[in-house]
Amino acid sequence: MAWQALDRTKPVFDKDAPPVLSEALRAKIRSFFPRYETQRAALLPALHVVQDALGHVSHKAMAEIAEVLEIPPSAVLDTLSFYTHYWDHERGSKVVVACRSLSCQLVGAEKVLDACKAELGIDEHGTTEDGKYSLVTEECLAACDHGPCLLINEKLHKCVTPEEVARILKDPKNAEIDPPRSNLFDGPAAAAPAPAIEAVGKTSDIQEMRES
Ligand code: FES
Repeated sequence: MAWQALDRTKPVFDKDAPPVLSEALRAKIRSFFPRYETQRAALLPALHVVQDALGHVSHKAMAEIAEVLEIPPSAVLDTLSFYTHYWDHERGSKVVVACRSLSCQLVGAEKVLDACKAELGIDEHGTTEDGKYSLVTEECLAACDHGPCLLINEKLHKCVTPEEVARILKDPKNAEIDPPRSNLFDGPAAAAPAPAIEAVGKTSDIQEMRES
């Protein structure tokens, strides 16, 4: 990516424009506070719920998140710009993420990425003219034994071949986010009950083994 000269003397958003965060979104962000020792620690889930609701996190949204968390807006920008999964500008309704890490590279990830570019007619970080698809690459998608991997709107596609790319991209189900990330941050009442996990060993067993 080429160097960009930014004019910091000009405001990056209109401070007098109406707020972009609804009261419901602000309440959702505040609902995270009891989970953490500091309000600042709720920043990552806050970014997820705002991105899921608005599609991306604009500079104005960042300033409003900062206001709710009572932290400087620069802290929100710092965090957001560190993670590739957050967007500060508009993105397509379907985000195609191609894995660029070693295990996938060894089994043909580059050809799968080329097929995505050819099928969508865009380059990496691009968005199709109709606003339907954006294409990015990211590090390991955590399915290294089933590469090459593609993630489309949070749905993982494993062992993808270049020949399959066109079919996968045309699947109408790609429009569904599976599951929305903000759902991962729902409170205990909304979450399904966790299955009971059978204990496989007790501290006393280990103690007995050591003593025997
Ligand atoms: S290297 Fe591609 S999923 Fe891990």
